[in-house]
Amino acid sequence: MKAALHTVSSESTIARGDGTRNALGFGATGFIGRWLVKELLDQGISTTAAVRNLARFGAVADLLRDHNVATTALSVVEVDLVVDGIELRPGRLNHIREIFNVAGAHACGMTPAAARAANVDTSRRVVEFAATLPHLGRLVHLSGYRVGGQDLASIPWSEAKRKYQ
Ligand SMILES: NC(=O)c1ccc[n+]([C@@H]2O[C@H](COP(=O)([O-])OP(=O)(O)OC[C@H]3O[C@@H](n4cnc5c(N)ncnc54)[C@H](OP(=O)(O)O)[C@@H]3O)[C@@H](O)[C@H]2O)c1
Repeated sequence: MKAALHTVSSESTIARGDGTRNALGFGATGFIGRWLVKELLDQGISTTAAVRNLARFGAVADLLRDHNVATTALSVVEVDLVVDGIELRPGRLNHIREIFNVAGAHACGMTPAAARAANVDTSRRVVEFAATLPHLGRLVHLSGYRVGGQDLASIPWSEAKRKYQ
């Protein structure tokens, strides 16, 4: 599995004058997302977990409780990245200075259109939303696999395999 991680900016530009860091994580209920939330909170970073279904946040809460993570700096917002325009009360997240996007979907046999909708379009919406935040200093995106510009023609796959990859 191949992934690309792109970060911009430095620590000095993402903390408020008082040193407070405010992070927003998309895909917080996922395998990586829930550990990301734990790590951010462990580092004392004020964290907003963006989930598409609040009912699924219980597993994240369980993980945090099992690891004795303090959650006073944690808040949760419901966001479905499948629809255009991230709908949140205007200004609600204006304090966010860093975004971590680990939302995405992968499944065997996924059609290119479904994969694009679940990964490319969702990521575009995160970037569009990020552009509206007045104090953003960092956007970290964890990509899915095979996004590194690899020339597919160079891979010795059969036509049958190529069709489903
Ligand atoms: N796991 C790895 O080894 C690995 C390695 C490299 C790269 N990656 C990439 O890292 C990302 C996260 O991987 P993962 O293993 O943590 O995946 P995961 O467990 O399937 O979690 C995916 C997360 O994205 C959320 N999500 C999916 N579609 C969404 C939508 N339309 N709107 C809002 N949230 C949505 C899911 O929400 P729900 O809980 O509601 O489904 C879940 O929180 C993926 O892009 C994956 O390709 C993973």
